[in-house]
Amino acid sequence: MIEEKKALFIIFGGTGDLANRKLYPSLYRLFKKGYLKEHFAVIGTARREWSDEYYREIVISKIEDLAESEEHAKEFASHFYYQSHNVKDIEHYKTLQSLAERLDTTYQLDGNRMFYLAMSPNFFGIIAENIKSQQLLTETGFNRLVIEKPFGNDYESALKLNDHIRASFNENQIYRIDHYLGKEMVQNISTIRFGNHLIESMWNNRYINNIQITLSEALGVEERGGYYDTSGALRDMVQNHILQMVALLAMEPPTVFRDNEIRQEKIKALRALRLYSEEEVRTNFVRGQYGRSTINGETLSGYCEETNVSENSQTETFVAGKLFIDNYRWAGVPLYIRTGKRLAEKGTQIDIEFKNVPHQLFQTANDQPLPPNILSIFISPTEGFALQLNAKKVGPGVQPEPINLTSSHSAETTANSPEAYEKLILDCLNGDATNFTHWDEVAASWKFVDRIRAAWDTAEIEFPNYPSGSMGPIESMHLLKKDGFNWHWSPVTTIKDTTED
Ligand code: BG6
Repeated sequence: MIEEKKALFIIFGGTGDLANRKLYPSLYRLFKKGYLKEHFAVIGTARREWSDEYYREIVISKIEDLAESEEHAKEFASHFYYQSHNVKDIEHYKTLQSLAERLDTTYQLDGNRMFYLAMSPNFFGIIAENIKSQQLLTETGFNRLVIEKPFGNDYESALKLNDHIRASFNENQIYRIDHYLGKEMVQNISTIRFGNHLIESMWNNRYINNIQITLSEALGVEERGGYYDTSGALRDMVQNHILQMVALLAMEPPTVFRDNEIRQEKIKALRALRLYSEEEVRTNFVRGQYGRSTINGETLSGYCEETNVSENSQTETFVAGKLFIDNYRWAGVPLYIRTGKRLAEKGTQIDIEFKNVPHQLFQTANDQPLPPNILSIFISPTEGFALQLNAKKVGPGVQPEPINLTSSHSAETTANSPEAYEKLILDCLNGDATNFTHWDEVAASWKFVDRIRAAWDTAEIEFPNYPSGSMGPIESMHLLKKDGFNWHWSPVTTIKDTTED
């Protein structure tokens, strides 16, 4: 049963890339499905001077491909209002407040407000402060603040930002977005773990050898050089997306599957991450930066040749590392992570490698140990699972061979499943914070990442150290080799979805 939601969305950064690419299409999908009907309105704010009519035309152009009909798109866009706004100017919040009041009455929104900060993080604190001081918060409905990343650029700055925001909003009114938490297969981690005794009973250091997480990207930094050069892969991907996946993989079962309980378990897992000394960072972490290369006759520029990137940049575009979670369940189990830009192929995958059988009964073809059992979780582009087992090879004798049990969503299912932002906006309308990061998670993640950053900042490194189109610096392979392991994900082994529709 689809229940209509009532809310006023106030989008700060209403002319920006995120609003155009993600928010307007997601809101339209919710409209199409009936979650949004008559009782919703959107105020887009940004510095430029736009009329409501012009804003509506822009919104329509961003949902053109999804629209049921021109009429339907127009009906949707008629709920949109524009206000030119300088985030530092108190007067503008007064105008915003009276527009919000008016729309609340016109659309009967019961005082429900979602403030979406889709703009530079420098302004998050001041906007939150002015929203409160200029009485944009209502007494009658909900007031929720949605914040995009990055939430600070280290623990200190994140803490300062958090204190600033918390002066106006309670923790349970703040929805910190990590779009990975909206992904279907990231949400599936908990289901596969806690819905299967077979899996969960083996989900510990007695049966698991290591866990590997790969977030490989084929694209370079594109137009985001300015931002990326101050961020790098560690802050851009590890602090948020990767550590969120680590938390979901490592956490203890919550007593009930509800936001508070789940987040408490994630916090405990993140707090148990081993914090490295400078020396340990050097042995357990690898950084890289892509260099120019020519693939299929096409020359791809090196990172330092990208627009808005400093020509001697020391920013890493690749990170690989070995993590430990120091608790009863995970003592001694390495978690290997890696992410990078301009790698061979786009692919996000988790591989759980189980320990070998205690005693080998079968003779393998080349007298090698049996390959390990591996559970793979394909996050994207393929969505699905694979379980590698050893079975008897057809024919005489009992020669074992690895087989793969696979299940992947069909192209149709993937195409029709709601996009991450759509799910997250709906969760926020429902007041369900499961798939948003709590401040304590953010804090624990920064504390871990800051150690690595600090160690790296003490020494320059010879960059570039991997060619575009490769799988990163060779040291990231050695990181596992020296422990007797290999990365399971490699560009050719990802299962491609070949389902015929
Ligand atoms: C973003 C990063 O958070 O995630 C980008 O800022 C990165 O640099 C992107 O490209 C990857 O997301 P996805 O969903 O394409 O894997």
